[in-house]
Amino acid sequence: MSSENSTTLSHQNSTNTRKILVTCALPYANGSIHLGHLLEHIQTDIWVRFQRMRGHETYFVCADDAHGTPIMLKAQELGVSPEDMIAGVREEHMQDFNDFLISFDNYHSTHSDENRFFAEKIYQHLKAQGHIKTRTISQLYDEEKGMFLPDRFVKGTCPKCKSDDQNGDSCDVCGATYSPTEVLNPRSVVSGSTPVMRDSEHYFFDLPAFEGMLKTWIHSGTLQNEMANKLNEWFEQGLNQWDISRDAPYFGFEIPDAPGKYFYVWLDAPIGYMGSFKNLCDKKGIDFDSFWAKDSNAELYHFIGKDILYFHSLFWPAMLDGAGYRKPSAINVHGFVTVNGAKMSKSKGTFIKGRTYLEHLNPEYLRYYYAAKLTNRIDDLDLNLEDFAQRVNADLVGKVVNIASRCASFITKRFDGMLSTRVADQTLANEVMQAGDSIASHYESRDFGRAMREIMALADKVNEYIAIKEPWQLIKDESKQQEVHDICSLGINLFRILMIYLKPVLPKLAESTEAFLNDNLSWQDHQHLLSDHKINKFKALMQRVDMDKINAMVESSKENLKATAEKTTATSANASPLQEDPISPEIQFDDFAKIDLRIAKIVKAEHVEKANKLLRLELDLGGETRQVFAGIKSAYQPEDLEGKLTVMVANLAPRKMRFGLSEGMVLAAGPGGKDLWILNPEEGAKPGMRVK
Ligand code: MSP
Ligand code: ZN
Repeated sequence: MSSENSTTLSHQNSTNTRKILVTCALPYANGSIHLGHLLEHIQTDIWVRFQRMRGHETYFVCADDAHGTPIMLKAQELGVSPEDMIAGVREEHMQDFNDFLISFDNYHSTHSDENRFFAEKIYQHLKAQGHIKTRTISQLYDEEKGMFLPDRFVKGTCPKCKSDDQNGDSCDVCGATYSPTEVLNPRSVVSGSTPVMRDSEHYFFDLPAFEGMLKTWIHSGTLQNEMANKLNEWFEQGLNQWDISRDAPYFGFEIPDAPGKYFYVWLDAPIGYMGSFKNLCDKKGIDFDSFWAKDSNAELYHFIGKDILYFHSLFWPAMLDGAGYRKPSAINVHGFVTVNGAKMSKSKGTFIKGRTYLEHLNPEYLRYYYAAKLTNRIDDLDLNLEDFAQRVNADLVGKVVNIASRCASFITKRFDGMLSTRVADQTLANEVMQAGDSIASHYESRDFGRAMREIMALADKVNEYIAIKEPWQLIKDESKQQEVHDICSLGINLFRILMIYLKPVLPKLAESTEAFLNDNLSWQDHQHLLSDHKINKFKALMQRVDMDKINAMVESSKENLKATAEKTTATSANASPLQEDPISPEIQFDDFAKIDLRIAKIVKAEHVEKANKLLRLELDLGGETRQVFAGIKSAYQPEDLEGKLTVMVANLAPRKMRFGLSEGMVLAAGPGGKDLWILNPEEGAKPGMRVK
């Protein structure tokens, strides 16, 4: 058993009510909620609803993360004030979460009075303890725009491999990482101008001072093992001082006593957890300190994705510790959502916004599917859309709801809606009732997939029982009426218990079940059966997932793909090569104009030793000879190529390969393998001619 299980399980033994504060990462206020975010919110919501059902004092808070350069620039682009923009986005986010049945106690904003108060307080405290240092650093500055440029707002030539148009901090071609000041020919993404170096004084948080404390903390059951190991790597590399200030113009909180300097967004973002909770405390009269004071006996959990571990497991606990607050009980990290086995993609229509999903499908389908696939580990979770439809239909409609629909009509029509006073099969009843403890322990340790499997295995048993008993046959026999009553009453009762177990995942279905059964489903109710109890007429509780609706959702998520595709002439014999290989992001005419396409004559072609795919080509560009390594070996024999004309990119930066320098690229089309054709211009073309 992993350490996180043992810590969380130990709480269960105490009969006392636990005090629990739970958070999700704060979504940025400049984009829509998508199915990736929703994994986190659904996971957290299930856990929170489970704790509430068990009677613990549980609060679930979140907020929009409203500060930073991207948000400032996005508002400028839209021609609105950042305040107006973040207010609008927050409304949209709250509506989305509400419709996915996420049961926040509060959804605030980091741009709030409470958050400013705590950010300043923590900063002042850290400063008084000597944990804030200042140092002058040199950074790229956009003179035209009058601002320092964050890494992602600089582009240029990679200092290592010399590829053009690379990011300010890393190269997509060779994978190198570097500082934006090392980029060759740097360019501001904001204005297009060439940035200059400029000095500025920055404020730093002294993270290395907390190394000892952090090392102990991460091994005290606060992190999943995989994550604790990851942190060990970071310790080995050594901790650095953390730059927490940004110069104006910046959308955020100005640092006290430092005019023109602002807190970096990641400083006040986690403090936003406190800000949102304080806002709730003031509305509801909850004692804030009993949750955050150093000696608090409340539990504090942050649910986050693996990409933001560093902030939550190093900076955040160190800030809390340095400022005299308690630290989190655990950081629960999840992996990333992929759709149909790949990263969510706009062109494939698998970058699906929460709102688009809701326009086509029931939110509880997604809640169930995520629950069924969630573990307490960091693995990525694939939303395979066909599997999604099958799983939901088979489990929820085919197994769980099916029990009720098979039994209910007999109770209503023949027995006046009353459940029997007798238990038709005590062994089966006991098995379903007693599974509650094990299912609860899976919920507690966030092993939702295991909980769902256990529930579905019980549903299978109940269905099997009904199938063997065949009440629909027995009912024809006058002497078997009592038996039918008992069998169907047990069926309804066991359906009720399964719905208690599923209630954290399917709150709406549980609500309809409560109305149908005239009963409130609370966790401890799994220990008894209803007897001599009146139920209501059964109405269909859940529709099957319709694959057409899934397809429609994917269609409406495809942005501009059709428009782009129509402009392009597809060459392959395949009906629709675009489905396999979506069009790349749109480029401007200027980008296209940079590509110099020329006719080249293949004067020599030969195999390359030890290369599986490559041929070495010598190309005559009309006066100039170039060597190019082309991945076309699967489709061509070298001798068939010699003497042919083709089209090449003549101004591609030369690339050093294992076999030698490649000085350009020849153009070919096709899916690959044998089906690959190099472009073959008509006669009349001459080496060196420009292709237009
Ligand atoms: N604003 C920061 C968090 C600050 S917390 C003090 C942020 N925002 S985010 O909108 O980019 O991401 C919010 C959460 O959604 C993060 O936990 C992130 O890991 C999660 N996810 C974003 N895309 C995701 C997937 N495709 N799959 C699963 N979770 C993902 O980071
Ligand atoms: Zn590079």
